Amino acid sequence: MNREDSQSMLNAVATARSRQPAVRYEMIEAIRNGEKTKPVVHNEIHQQEAVIDIDQFALWYSAAQAIHDVSMKIPRGAVTALIGPSGCGKSTLLRSINRMNDLVDGVRVEGEIHLNGSPIYAPSVDVIGLRKRLGMVFQKPNPFPMSIFENVVYPLRIDGERRKSVLAEACEKSLRSAAIWDEVKDRLKESALGLSGGQQQRLCIARAVVADPEVLLLDEPCSALDPVATIKIEELITEISSRYTVLIVTHNMQQAARVSDYTALMYLGRLVEYGTTGMIFQNPKLLETEHYVSGRFG
Ligand SMILES: Nc1ncnc2c1ncn2[C@@H]1O[C@H](COP(=O)(O)OP(=O)(O)OP(=O)(O)O)[C@@H](O)[C@H]1O
Ligand SMILES: [Mg+2]
Repeated sequence: MNREDSQSMLNAVATARSRQPAVRYEMIEAIRNGEKTKPVVHNEIHQQEAVIDIDQFALWYSAAQAIHDVSMKIPRGAVTALIGPSGCGKSTLLRSINRMNDLVDGVRVEGEIHLNGSPIYAPSVDVIGLRKRLGMVFQKPNPFPMSIFENVVYPLRIDGERRKSVLAEACEKSLRSAAIWDEVKDRLKESALGLSGGQQQRLCIARAVVADPEVLLLDEPCSALDPVATIKIEELITEISSRYTVLIVTHNMQQAARVSDYTALMYLGRLVEYGTTGMIFQNPKLLETEHYVSGRFG
């Protein structure tokens, strides 16, 4: 093709492109413009019994608002994934559920969150007691510098449990739940810091479930792990969800698709679309959701 022909072809492509209707993300644009938007919540969510009920919740870090009027119910006995671009408020929302944001200076909240029917922001709430009802696991494994055994039973110890047989039984049960018992049963007295990253994260999950929480909150629990350790944690999440309600933040769309039953997409502190994972990934109602989960937006 000579230069003139190739130029005219490029021009034709450019003209055709300019004639194509621009992709419009109506909800995203409205959110960017600071408008109050109504999220698309699928009927399947309304039909579930909620263990956590987030009701018109808003949060400010000093003057900056990070969560805007979020209402969502987290179904009992299932895995719900929170997805959305970096900075959209996923971790903030997760940390609002165990009131960890209370520890940040200048935080103010509006609205309410109920855990199994009880309001968690009511003035009478004992925050330490509330946190015992929720197990939390973070991005980076954070074992304490003590033995494997002491790491797991730590929440029971600070609760005053001293009976050796009770602690030993709880330790084994939790380590089995976290699918790491066989790997550590002969080295319970050794330091937890000697475990691999993936083992440390499973240990943290064991510690998070030892006091039988009502909900397990996981904030990108695999992002510091290699693919093999990631698969192990994903299998563990699936297994554990028969006993616990799990709320997981993840950046990884395949992971959300693999482990969760329900998925919620957030954007700039607002809920965008929320439904079964099957619907969100295969038949979402919003174009922005379709494009986000397929990596074309965000
Ligand atoms: N401790 C804090 N103090 C002030 N602002 C904060 C604090 N933590 C988060 N923010 C802000 O709140 C907003 C939401 O942050 P958050 O960490 O909840 O997002 P995220 O969705 O978890 O992002 P990522 O995917 O990157 O982890 C961001 O604008 C962030 O800068
Ligand atoms: Mg985060």
